[in-house]
Amino acid sequence: MGSPKALLIGVLQVLLVGESSSQPTSRDRATLLAIKNAWGNPKQLASWDPAVNADHCNWTGVACEGAGGGRVVTGISLPSLNITGKVPGSVCDLTNLTRLDLSYNNLTGGFPGAALYPCSQLRFLDLSNNFFDQALPDDISRLSPAMEHLNLSANYFRGAIPAAVAGLPALKSLVLDSNKFTGAYPAAEISKLAGLEQLTLAYNAFTPAPAPLEFAKLTNLSYLWMSSMNMTGEIPTAYSNLANLTLLVLSDNNLSGEIPAWVWQHQRLEFLYLFNNSLTGELPRKVTAVNLRELDVSSNNLTGEIPEDFGGLGNLSLLFMYENQFTGTIPASITMLPNLREIWLFRNKLSGELPSKIWSIPKLTTLNIQNNNSTGSLPAKITENIQRIVIGNNRFSGSFPTSAIGLQVFNAENNLLSGKLPPDMSRFPNLQRLLMSGNQLTGSIP
Ligand SMILES: *[C@@H]1O[C@H](CO)[C@@H](O)[C@H](O)[C@H]1NC(C)=O
Ligand SMILES: *[C@@H]1O[C@H](CO)[C@@H](O)[C@H](O)[C@H]1NC(C)=O
Ligand SMILES: *[C@@H]1O[C@H](CO)[C@@H](O)[C@H](O)[C@H]1NC(C)=O
Ligand SMILES: *[C@@H]1O[C@H](CO)[C@@H](O)[C@H](O)[C@H]1NC(C)=O
Ligand SMILES: *[C@@H]1O[C@H](CO)[C@@H](O)[C@H](O)[C@H]1NC(C)=O
Ligand SMILES: *[C@@H]1O[C@H](CO)[C@@H](O)[C@H](O)[C@H]1NC(C)=O
Ligand SMILES: *[C@@H]1O[C@H](CO)[C@@H](O)[C@H](O)[C@H]1NC(C)=O
Ligand SMILES: *[C@@H]1O[C@H](CO)[C@@H](O)[C@H](O)[C@H]1NC(C)=O
Ligand SMILES: *[C@@H]1O[C@H](CO)[C@@H](O)[C@H](O)[C@H]1NC(C)=O
Ligand SMILES: *[C@@H]1O[C@H](CO)[C@@H](O)[C@H](O)[C@H]1NC(C)=O
Ligand SMILES: *[C@@H]1O[C@H](CO)[C@@H](O)[C@H](O)[C@H]1NC(C)=O
Ligand SMILES: *[C@@H]1O[C@H](CO)[C@@H](O)[C@H](O)[C@H]1NC(C)=O
Repeated sequence: MGSPKALLIGVLQVLLVGESSSQPTSRDRATLLAIKNAWGNPKQLASWDPAVNADHCNWTGVACEGAGGGRVVTGISLPSLNITGKVPGSVCDLTNLTRLDLSYNNLTGGFPGAALYPCSQLRFLDLSNNFFDQALPDDISRLSPAMEHLNLSANYFRGAIPAAVAGLPALKSLVLDSNKFTGAYPAAEISKLAGLEQLTLAYNAFTPAPAPLEFAKLTNLSYLWMSSMNMTGEIPTAYSNLANLTLLVLSDNNLSGEIPAWVWQHQRLEFLYLFNNSLTGELPRKVTAVNLRELDVSSNNLTGEIPEDFGGLGNLSLLFMYENQFTGTIPASITMLPNLREIWLFRNKLSGELPSKIWSIPKLTTLNIQNNNSTGSLPAKITENIQRIVIGNNRFSGSFPTSAIGLQVFNAENNLLSGKLPPDMSRFPNLQRLLMSGNQLTGSIP
């Protein structure tokens, strides 16, 4: 303490720091330390310490680009770290920052505009799954004009969505679902974002209104999620322009009318969720949407038969059509689908014989056709892939299967099954739930 040597080292350190702080490298390091300090130096950021790790580009969640004196921080990615507090005002001192991911933390306060507007190169901002609240500011378009991905999902933002969110011309993703937004959303302005590929407005308590026709202009959209947001009226015919859609989710709204024909002929659509609306009418015979993987039109008022053409949907994995008024038989064509895993058709008015080949769909795990009027019988051996058979309240006859290796749930209540229950339940090693009342079976379950 106080020796000339110690003093000299102290002076040298000051000189070194002073000299190099004009370099982007040491400026960025000082900024990162200021950010850490603003968050109360949480132990999750223990690696952010020159004594632990001399190279700040190697600190948790920090990404750098460039070389030598031009090596700069371009990304900060700190999801799921329990970070509390606000977005620090110093973050844009990282002048080359293009990507900021603070999702799944415990950040609070209003939208951090003052902190983020100076980030002139920011392209990707993910503040989703935090505790932000208040209304979005009317000057949110002061974010960098380079912004491509804006994700504010799963927060507590409220009030009307300002038209200014659409003042970011390069946007490809606008992710606003699962907040507390109310009122009308700026559909006309959003529809001018020609490069938009992903749009989510789901789970907000908007004023009841029809699906905006203007969205038909967003021909680059591939992902459109608009469930549970009080939509009324019909699914627009004009949306047939949205030829790049791979996901269309309009479930949990008050949509009425028929499902337009374009939906069933779409060439890219993979995920279609229209459940829990008031849709009516029959499905068309012509179904050529061959990329469909998951189809859910449950809990509507759809009528008519299940289209034979569903047998051409070779990628189909989930077929959910329960709680409608479908009639006729289940088409044998669907038993040819190599990827079909789950069939849910309960509470319809289906009748006729269940195609026996349904039991040999190679990937089938679940068949639920409870509460229909189907006839048919069960095979002696249920294949290993099948885990749940729910056929209660139908008119199945014949005898109980003699083995079912994978079966966990078997509900065949109120049918016309007869004969003996198998004496050897070891042939049903995974059975957890068995409902058999209302049949003419004899014997007892060991
Ligand atoms: C980065 O940090 C890890 C441990 O945190 C260490 O093993 C590695 O050597 C460091 N790399 C550089 C270039 O500093
Ligand atoms: C950092 O930003 C400056 C100023 O815009 C730019 O000249 C430089 O190329 C950027 N560096 C990197 C690695 O992106
Ligand atoms: C975050 O907090 C939860 C509960 O408080 C804890 O279980 C989890 O391990 C924490 N995660 C981190 C990265 O500290
Ligand atoms: C952060 O929020 C999660 C819930 O999202 C909670 O489980 C966790 O305890 C919170 N952590 C802190 C440090 O507040
Ligand atoms: C937020 O949205 C962006 C842009 O679509 C996406 O890349 C990111 O994965 C999303 N974040 C989470 C936590 O899902
Ligand atoms: C639409 O997407 C294509 C392919 O990614 C791209 O070339 C085109 O520029 C996009 N259109 C707009 C208006 O951004
Ligand atoms: C629908 O709108 C009504 C009236 O504006 C509102 O009370 C309700 O919360 C909204 N519901 C949903 C699911 O958005
Ligand atoms: C959207 O579709 C058009 C025409 O089919 C195509 O030119 C464009 O590249 C697609 N955009 C994307 C993002 O796939
Ligand atoms: C159906 O959607 C409405 C909103 O339109 C929602 O309030 C209701 O909870 C949903 N029903 C079910 C069973 O999820
Ligand atoms: C939407 O439908 C639900 C029942 O599913 C009903 O309670 C609600 O009043 C309807 N809302 C509008 C705006 O029509
Ligand atoms: C279906 O129609 C029946 C009879 O018209 C009606 O009572 C019921 O509320 C409708 N269900 C839905 C989900 O629209
Ligand atoms: C089954 O058929 C009987 C007699 O034809 C009819 O009374 C009943 O309503 C039908 N049940 C269903 C769910 O369609």
